[in-house]
Amino acid sequence: MSDRSLAKDSLQPKSFSFNKENAAWAKKRIALYPKGRQQSAVIPLLMRAQDQESWVSRAAMEKIADMLKMPYIRVLEVATFYTQFQLKPVGTRAHVQVCGTTPCMLRGAEDLRAVCQKKIHASPHQTNASGTLSWEEVECLGACVNAPMVAIGHDTYEDLTPERLEEIIDEFEAGRGDEVMTGPQNGRVFSAPLSGMTTLLEVPQHEPAKPAKAPRKTGPKAAPGPGAGAVKPSGGTLFARPEGEADDLKMISGVGPVLEKKLNAFGVTRFDQVAKLTKKDIAALDAALNFKGRIERDDWVKQARALSRGVDEYERVFGKKPK
Ligand code: FES
Repeated sequence: MSDRSLAKDSLQPKSFSFNKENAAWAKKRIALYPKGRQQSAVIPLLMRAQDQESWVSRAAMEKIADMLKMPYIRVLEVATFYTQFQLKPVGTRAHVQVCGTTPCMLRGAEDLRAVCQKKIHASPHQTNASGTLSWEEVECLGACVNAPMVAIGHDTYEDLTPERLEEIIDEFEAGRGDEVMTGPQNGRVFSAPLSGMTTLLEVPQHEPAKPAKAPRKTGPKAAPGPGAGAVKPSGGTLFARPEGEADDLKMISGVGPVLEKKLNAFGVTRFDQVAKLTKKDIAALDAALNFKGRIERDDWVKQARALSRGVDEYERVFGKKPK
């Protein structure tokens, strides 16, 4: 059973407020609920507070209670019930959640836990000396077929070996967490068999076989994952690579060198292409990049729209220079 007590007073900040962007998001979120039901926004608001600060302080709970006109104890009950909410400060660069439930345990979760103990701290919920990393053991995170796995933030890293987890932790510690490939780490696509497909091998008569155009990290034998066959951004399996010089897509916050390379491989090389992505394109790219939700979360489209008009426009829209 996990310890759900709040952090000691000396660790609690005196106050909490959402930053400008999150405050606007919270206002919109609260407005989604029918009149008199605004308290239903408590979980999304707590999660947003955690995304902003890495954990949920008592001040954040009280602020959210005030925003939703709830008694403090009601928000405290929610935050302490769900183990997704971190009630104590966690590593500023990564909080590693190691799944320790049976399938992951049988496939090596204990070795992953040992890596965390060696590289971060002997005990869970404690930060390393520089305060940048922390870890904990959690129950099943729903990726059992790709066991063993860990979650860091909103992403999962699956089919892990202790060596690969060490590398991933090093990347986060070096501030390059955004560049680490999410999902399976052994080259397979989603949860497709590493050795290639064993069923559904025939191509249906009415659908002529098309050559696979998307580059795969899994080598020639890898089979497409459940979503991969359905991935069809508008304009075909790949985007048509535009003429002319490629833009530096890394200027989009959330895109690092690895992602830029993948986007280029899918034919996306320019800001104006990203700016025009439709919902369908985004869903397809999400699936192809194995990067669920991040395109929308980091608002690549809005960023790219501004960048396609110039750095000044980006600065005007976001109040800061692009990376
Ligand atoms: S048992 Fe580890 S993800 Fe389900």
